[in-house]
Amino acid sequence: MRSHPLPDRIRALEALEREASGCVACELSKTRSKVVFGSGSPSSPLLFVGEGPGESEDLSGLPFVGRSGKLLDRLLGEELGISRDQIYIANIVKCRPPGNRNPLPAEVQACTPYLASQIELIAPDLIVALGAVAARFLVAPSLAISTARGRFFNSRFGVVMPMFHPSYGLRQGASAVTAMRADIVTAKLYLIEKGSWPAIGS
Ligand code: URA
Repeated sequence: MRSHPLPDRIRALEALEREASGCVACELSKTRSKVVFGSGSPSSPLLFVGEGPGESEDLSGLPFVGRSGKLLDRLLGEELGISRDQIYIANIVKCRPPGNRNPLPAEVQACTPYLASQIELIAPDLIVALGAVAARFLVAPSLAISTARGRFFNSRFGVVMPMFHPSYGLRQGASAVTAMRADIVTAKLYLIEKGSWPAIGS
């Protein structure tokens, strides 16, 4: 049972996005083109969390619209029969780290109150952490993505299932993409079991 009714949730997310659009809490604000707050359905029981915007996202202001995003879109369609607007997608940091480096601990610390508020408002039944940076923040700093992927962890943010980041799938090829397909189906089965998959619809 979600604590915030949908219209309140939408209003609160819009207010948070306005606040984030002017954020100067860390150095990434100096080099960004656009803040990439997140997008999708605020009533989704499924939230995907990536690492941070790349070049295409920085220019468009939308998460996962570059090559990684195309792979994510394809897996959502082929394995779950849904499109990205039926779920919510956000990132650990909302501004692009220069050269696509990993975000620094101070940047993660400065930015993640936005993600924590997004999670609180959306109150998803399952958070899928895309890649090690997201999984380590959401679950535990010592987590190894190769052994944690496809498993469920109770964290202070809720239930989290790590999977490989789509950019890793693009770099590694078939075996990593096959693992991603399996994990995304595991996520769907979890939501079906919880009775919250019809909230997404397929
Ligand atoms: N990689 C991410 O982690 N997030 C994006 O939004 C795009 C690429």
